[in-house]
Amino acid sequence: MIRIRPQRYGLRIYNNDPEKSSEMKAVLFVMSALLLVQSAWAAPDPVNGQKLFAASQCLNCHGTEVFSRPDRKVKSLAELESQVRRCDANLPTNWYDDEILDVVAYLNKTYYKFAAPAANTGAVPAAGNTPAAQ
Ligand code: HEC
Repeated sequence: MIRIRPQRYGLRIYNNDPEKSSEMKAVLFVMSALLLVQSAWAAPDPVNGQKLFAASQCLNCHGTEVFSRPDRKVKSLAELESQVRRCDANLPTNWYDDEILDVVAYLNKTYYKFAAPAANTGAVPAAGNTPAAQ
């Protein structure tokens, strides 16, 4: 008999019956498949980004006006992501990668409004968006 019990730090799987080890494998297989699906499909979440940003110390050094000033430095979604990573490195926040991306999504939605990255959609950039020939 296999029992799964919630623990403080995750789940504990008991297997008292050696004959049931294939059942055990099936349970583990389904659980790891679910984890894979979750990490592959999780899109950046600006609502979570807003919460993280509000709870952070991001505004210790500058206000939100740096995001919308006319001469702002960040000119693309990629630059926004690297700037958030640089700034976050000054804080003891220890955001995970997906949390950084949530904050980037929030700042982009609220202030920067860059188009979503074309890489995810497989879309070919429109002719007007291609960089000018040197
Ligand atoms: C230790 C001080 C400090 C902290 C803390 C900090 N920043 Fe910054 N941030 C800066 C400085 C300095 C600049 C550049 C400002 C300038 O050019 O006038 C900057 C610029 C930025 C920019 C670019 C603004 C532009 O011009 O487009 C973004 C975006 C940004 N920070 C986001 C964040 C986020 C998100 C956090 C929290 C994770 C954060 N910052 C925390 C110092 C900090």
